[in-house]
This record gives sequence, structure tokens and C-alpha cells, in this order.
Amino acid sequence: MPDTIDYARYDRIRPIRWTGDALELLDQRKLPFAVEYVPCRTSGAVAVAIHALIVRGAPAIGIAAAWGVVLAARELDAATGGGIAAAAEAAERLEPVMQQLNAARPTAVNLAWALQRMRRALSVAGEDWRTALFREAKAIESEDLAANRKMGRLGAQLIANGSGVLTHCNTGSLATAGFGTALGVIRAGVAQGRIERVYAGETRPWLQGARLTVWELQQDGIDATLIADAAASHLMKTGQVQWVIVGADRICANGDTANKIGTYQLAIAARYHGVKFMVVAPSSTVDMATANGGKIEIEERDPAELLAVGATRTVAEGIRAWNPVFDVTPSELIDAIVTERGVVERPNRVSMQTFFGH
Ligand code: MRU
Repeated sequence: MPDTIDYARYDRIRPIRWTGDALELLDQRKLPFAVEYVPCRTSGAVAVAIHALIVRGAPAIGIAAAWGVVLAARELDAATGGGIAAAAEAAERLEPVMQQLNAARPTAVNLAWALQRMRRALSVAGEDWRTALFREAKAIESEDLAANRKMGRLGAQLIANGSGVLTHCNTGSLATAGFGTALGVIRAGVAQGRIERVYAGETRPWLQGARLTVWELQQDGIDATLIADAAASHLMKTGQVQWVIVGADRICANGDTANKIGTYQLAIAARYHGVKFMVVAPSSTVDMATANGGKIEIEERDPAELLAVGATRTVAEGIRAWNPVFDVTPSELIDAIVTERGVVERPNRVSMQTFFGH
């Protein structure tokens, strides 16, 4: 499959930059009105940044955590005068840091996956363990970018010319090493002339769609229309969209998929209206150790996120709010899961096992 996408146009934003002595994270709390990078020089700062959503999106938090381990190795060297020779000792000393990074957010499996890769790199390293960690973090990042570009092409092939699509949350360059997952498919579909209309839901309460996705698309010159989350069913009813295309934070062994809160209701509405539903995620998001969506820990964040829009309180004092930030879409509502390994159509336990069971 030839790669004809003009990445100079369609892949320009980088949320994560390794400078050689710090990890710079594009502060997603401030977008779209300020483009500022926060320098992190310690693994603790990276853990805080992940929890605070300075960096966000399943693949991006895995990549940031991997670089966090590289920073932790440097902190360890500073504390011991570079005195640790054996990788096994480094692994033992770095384990609490791995656990701290892993605890920063619970739902996206990419975080645990990236840290497991860092552990494995240490376990086969010798005295070159520092280089091994650096190389692994770099590989995690570059493999994610390559996976996204491949998924873009695979997913776009499913979309008929003249289609409209609706996406949710932000799954673009900002959420990954670059190009994006669901947004990568949308970029590829637009570049290939298949997609004519792009809609993005606001994604209350943190407004990933309103603040990040439509801004990202604007950088590429892709025309997109923002809708209130509550307008999605009406949009589908009017025939404007043929696909809902979303990312994922964890895909279980039976295909059940955790993603940003509101994804589940989009899938229900899509099935009712005969609109197809596509999940796009790298294989690092697939968690074959979790049997089904009922076993996924759903992150609940501070209700304050719901009680205000930005810094402006919109709700009377004394009102209680519940703020789960992910939900689970059952596999039977999903028409296709697109990964860099290929497309699983109408996923279920058997087809998932065939694709990812080894
Ligand atoms: O809370 P967030 O903004 O980290 O949630 C992000 C999502 O739900 C994305 O859809 C998912 O991580 C896939 S990003 C390629």
C-alpha cells in the first residue's frame, strides 16, 4: 500500500520533545490560546504532568512515562555518583519510580505497557543499561508514530468517497507521538479525498474536542465543524456522517473498548442510525489480559471539572457532581478496530485472539 500522505502538511505538532537533558511537554491545559512547553527534569515531574493532563492521550502518556524512566536513571546516577553498574540493581532501584508513573492515571493501558517495555529492556541489559533505557524510550516513541501512519492508511480504506465523519475527544498528534490514531485516519481520509465533512464533539468536561481537536485540524487546513456533544444523535439522523471514528484507552480480549466518556453513547446512537463505528488504536492499547470491559478501572476525576467551564463556575454552590472520564463500548457496537497489525472487523473474543493472542 503506497504511502502518499503529505506529512509535512498533515503531521506538524509534537506534544513530547526530548531535549537531551529534559522532557518538554506541550501544556495541553493551555491550548488553544497558548502554545507552551513545560520542561520536566525529574520522573516525579513527569508523573505530575500525566496526572494533571499537561500530557494526555493513551499513547502519549506511555511515551512520556518511558522518558520519565530515563530521567529517573539520571536522578539515580546523580544520587549515587554513577556508581550502579549492574542492570539488576538499577531495575530494583527504579521500580518505585515505575510504580509512581504507573499510578498517575489508571485507565489507559499504554502507560503500564510502556513501563513494562522499560523493565524488559533493563532485564536484558548489562552495564550499558542507561543506553538501553534511552534506546527503548526512543523506540516506543518512533514505533508509535509509524503505527499511526500505518493505521491512517488502513482505516481510510474503509471509508467510501464523499463520507462525513464524527470524532470524539482528541486522538491526534497531541495524544500520540504524532499524526494520531482516529484523527490520523481522518487526516488520511481527507488527504485521499474520501472524507468531505469532519465533525468533532466538544467532549465535556475537559473539552478535548473543542480546545484540541478542531485546533489541530485547523493547523492542517482541514475544515471541521464543532458540535455540542448532545447534538451527535441529531447529526446522525440528518445523514451528515457515515462513520464515527474514535481512539481507545484500553481494548479488552473480547474487543470491549474503554475510551473518553461519551464514546459509549455515540456507539449506541450510531448503531440505531446505521452509522458505522470505528475504533483506531495501536496494538499497545490492546490488553489481552483483561477479559472484558467490566474489569477496566474507570478513572474518576475531580468533580470541579464539571462545575466550571474553564475558570468560570457555572453551577450553584453546594451542587454535587460525578465525573467518570472514560466509559466502555461493548464490542458488539464496534464495526472495526483498526491497529497497525490490521483491521479486526466486528471484533469478538475469537477474532481478537486470532490477531493479538500471541
Ligand atoms: O483523558 P484523556 O484526554 O487522556 O483521554 C484521551 C482519550 O480518551 C483518547 O480518545 C484516547 O486516549 C486515545 S488517544 C490516541
